[in-house]
Amino acid sequence: MRPIRLSLVALGLAATLAGAACDEKLSDVAGPTPNLVPTFSSIQQEIFNTTDSSGRLACIGCHTDNGRTPAGGLVLLDGRSYQALVGQASRFKAGAIFVVPGDPNASYLIHKLEGAADIAGSRMPRGTGPFLTSGQMQIIRRWIELGAKND
Ligand code: HEC
Repeated sequence: MRPIRLSLVALGLAATLAGAACDEKLSDVAGPTPNLVPTFSSIQQEIFNTTDSSGRLACIGCHTDNGRTPAGGLVLLDGRSYQALVGQASRFKAGAIFVVPGDPNASYLIHKLEGAADIAGSRMPRGTGPFLTSGQMQIIRRWIELGAKND
């Protein structure tokens, strides 16, 4: 009996997920940043540059060289963040690359934002949160999957 029940549960789940994929609007997934879509300019605008309705900090509050030393030596300002992230190595974690086009799991930026066990330093944004939601992470992961273009 057990295997049959399990497979029914699995099927039910698959149906739910398929339904969600069709019905759910991207803006619902994007949560506190309803305009977030999987392009770099959108990530710049909605995540790096600005806070959101959850109260999450804007990255450029710390990652700027405007009047200060950029946190972690990383500048995420408009026009500079792409070059600083895509294919670039972490200063603190040997061998880690921030964004590996096509491979979100290998991208250290994702590890830092999700607070993965392997990171050096703290989860980003630094502090006690709010951190990015799983929906926001899904959209950033999708941008990387699509080739991490400067779009
Ligand atoms: C309150 C200040 C602050 C905010 C806000 C902040 N950071 Fe950071 N960030 C730091 C500091 C300090 C470091 C270096 C120490 C560490 O890694 O914990 C760092 C390190 C990093 C690193 C790793 C750098 C390396 O060479 O390994 C990444 C990637 C990063 N931040 C991305 C972000 C992103 C993306 C955001 C916005 C979602 C963000 N940070 C928000 C302070 C901040």
